[in-house]
Amino acid sequence: MGSCNSSSWCIAKYLANDTELKNNILYVCDFLDDCKLIQPGGSCFIPDTLINHASVVMNEYYAKKGRNTWNCYFSGSGLITQSDPSYGSCKYA
Ligand SMILES: *[C@@H]1O[C@H](CO)[C@@H](O)[C@H](O)[C@H]1NC(C)=O
Repeated sequence: MGSCNSSSWCIAKYLANDTELKNNILYVCDFLDDCKLIQPGGSCFIPDTLINHASVVMNEYYAKKGRNTWNCYFSGSGLITQSDPSYGSCKYA
């Protein structure tokens, strides 16, 4: 904890609406210039839901930007969590 900067993750709020989730995905995929993780064949494609895909890429953005609180704001649709959201083959950065 504390000095390990990989002890927090960014996910989409459960209550975020589809428009917000789609906008976040578009925004982050443009920023990263790569969204293979959530494309067919990617390790986080399944479950193929907006909330899953948004959470995965929002966390990629958060991690790349340095895990600052404001990097997970996403107009209020992001949520910082202390528990690793990774599942199966989908590893959160
Ligand atoms: C989704 O949430 C945003 C931000 O709160 C809001 O501006 C927008 O109208 C909402 N869209 C829908 C379809 O509810």
